[in-house]
Amino acid sequence: MATHEWGFSTEQVHAGIEPDGGHGARITPVYLSNGFLFDDFDQARERFAGESEGYYYTRYGNPTIAAVERKLANLEHGTDALAVASGQAALTIAFLALLQQGDHVVSARSIYEGTRGLLREDFARFGISATFVKDPNDAEALDAAFTASTKAVFIESIPNPRNDVPDLELVTRVAHRHGVPVIVDNTLGTPFHVRPIDFGADLVVHSTSKFLSGHGSAIGGAIVDSGSRWLRDAVSDDSSAPGIESFTQRARSLAGRFGPTLSPFNAFLLQHGIETLSLRMRQQSGNALEIARWLEGRADVASVDYSGLESSPHHANAERYLQNGYGAVFAFTLRGGRAAAESLINNVALWSRMTHLGDVRSLILHPASTTHIHLSAEELAENGIEPGTIRVSVGIEDVGDLIADLERALA
Ligand SMILES: Cc1ncc(COP(=O)(O)O)c(C=O)c1O
Repeated sequence: MATHEWGFSTEQVHAGIEPDGGHGARITPVYLSNGFLFDDFDQARERFAGESEGYYYTRYGNPTIAAVERKLANLEHGTDALAVASGQAALTIAFLALLQQGDHVVSARSIYEGTRGLLREDFARFGISATFVKDPNDAEALDAAFTASTKAVFIESIPNPRNDVPDLELVTRVAHRHGVPVIVDNTLGTPFHVRPIDFGADLVVHSTSKFLSGHGSAIGGAIVDSGSRWLRDAVSDDSSAPGIESFTQRARSLAGRFGPTLSPFNAFLLQHGIETLSLRMRQQSGNALEIARWLEGRADVASVDYSGLESSPHHANAERYLQNGYGAVFAFTLRGGRAAAESLINNVALWSRMTHLGDVRSLILHPASTTHIHLSAEELAENGIEPGTIRVSVGIEDVGDLIADLERALA
């Protein structure tokens, strides 16, 4: 069941759900079964040959996982989706499905540090290089980063944690001029705020561990395929496995071989999380805007990196690409530097000191001493992470309680 005529809240509940094998279960059950029976010899052969629909081994597909894949493809306006074990697994499989030794990636510099490390350190060991562009909205600088070996462009819809929202149409225009697909990590945006495929993106990647699951209880990831010609071109030369016609088929084959399978139980939790996405996002993003405005008015706060603020240099792009709010993860910097940051972190009572995002609970972290601890002082400055910078992920709690807790801790 899939229709883009429904409103978002209707789609998030109903899209992707198909009647369960005759028992009438209203909710797709958890199929905790590694394998699936074949009716006969021929059916076994057909499943392995990819000639018939159906499941054979959960590493390649499972009914609980498939239901959430259909729902995500629908919500992101894609044609297909693959769910995997984590956001990092989704990024790894998306890149590996497009790249091989000697290839090159153009990436925005302002991205989740784990993805930057993956590209800069881990893929480098396998002969895949990356150029990080400071301002991907500068068409000339972006264009100059391409080489003859560039095979993919990577950005985040709402960069973690700086909120320097990219110009999606500009980035996809430049990439497509070079014949290269664009991958957008939409973890912080979620399809409730932005659907990158509507603006020309070719692939959307998620850490479903965050807002989509929403309750901080299930690590997962997903890749949504737009079905664009840049993706089809990218897999047209596939000789690694027979019968590969689409990006998702290649990615599913790769994920089957590399092995980061999403647990059907986590897929079930993800399905439940998505059903309330719009309700949570509306509350969380609304809370975030109120907190950002309150922080901006304080003398002890040097800056607030939230694209929802009119004062943000990224507000125009946020207005152009985001709807229903501006997301619930952002950074702010205290004038008192590291000592002030340390004091704030140690004195909050309601906020959770935690490295996670998109939870119903509000979370707070000091990037320079945690997520970005391995960067040099120069790299920290380049990434806009100062000693007094704090990252928050705003939850669904009553905003007055959240502000009161921050006010008390700052005092
Ligand atoms: C934007 C973004 N993408 C990907 C990831 C990785 O996701 P996961 O923790 O599910 O592997 C994170 C984790 O914080 C993230 O913030």
